[in-house]
Amino acid sequence: MNDGDGTLAAQAGKRQFGPLGTALVIIPTYNEAENIKKIVGRVRKSVPEAHVLVADDNSPDGTGKLADELAAEDDHVHVMHRKGKEGLGAAYLAGFRWALDNGYGVVVEMDADGSHQPEELPRLLTALKSADLVLGSRWVPGGRVVNWPKSREFISRGGSLYSRLALDLPLRDITGGYRAFRRETLEGLGLDQVASQGYCFQVDLARRAVKAGYHVVEVPITFVERELGDSKMSRDILVEALWRVTAWGASERVARVRSRGKKA
Ligand code: GDD
Ligand code: MN
Repeated sequence: MNDGDGTLAAQAGKRQFGPLGTALVIIPTYNEAENIKKIVGRVRKSVPEAHVLVADDNSPDGTGKLADELAAEDDHVHVMHRKGKEGLGAAYLAGFRWALDNGYGVVVEMDADGSHQPEELPRLLTALKSADLVLGSRWVPGGRVVNWPKSREFISRGGSLYSRLALDLPLRDITGGYRAFRRETLEGLGLDQVASQGYCFQVDLARRAVKAGYHVVEVPITFVERELGDSKMSRDILVEALWRVTAWGASERVARVRSRGKKA
């Protein structure tokens, strides 16, 4: 039971967190040929002990082949070739399974386009020493976005606000995709039941983590809009997010009313 963040925070303060173990940075890609080599190089430089997994959905622009070239010359780089574009959520779920099967202690989510700066990763990992899940956050003090069109900022802020209210989550950036999980956290989220395909996958995992009582910490990041390639954000992705968040919110409300009814 989640009986308020005060209690959870207090519990987290008293809790002992184990050592972190080796990190795997998962980078999902669909048509990121202009970006993939640069981002992997930046990750390898900023956290040399971490491994990288590129989860490519058979990008028509040859991203997967470029990733194979990187893997051939660096034993810390791995590539997962998926059969076609199935959405960000499906790519991450496959990546998470691979990470858990291969014994990684920490799993990081990162976009390929440079929006999530690898140079900020050490700060996320430091925060994870005393947390179960760390969210890179654009909407906490110190966080910001660079070069994002106002229209995108509006959608993102609106999406976080709506999720926060509908799902009763004590978080500011609920849709962001720069995150670090302890493996135990991923193991406890019920990944087999996650059906989210698009970017609402991020909301789904944040919601599951809070409801499961994990200590979730937001760390400010500077999100830099991509310079090369195109965003895969689409109307379908937005629609999926809207209906799923609304449905989760409604079913949680029904569950709360039922449990009150039983107690009375
Ligand atoms: N494998 C795979 N399959 N990768 C995908 C897919 C897919 O279907 N769709 C997107 N990606 C990859 C992109 O190649 C990129 O590396 C990353 O996911 C993010 O995609 P972008 O298209 O750059 O996302 P954005 O900048 O518009 O979205 C931002 O906002 C989202 C919602 O708030 C980012 O912050 C996302 O992380 C965030 O979820
Ligand atoms: Mn992007």
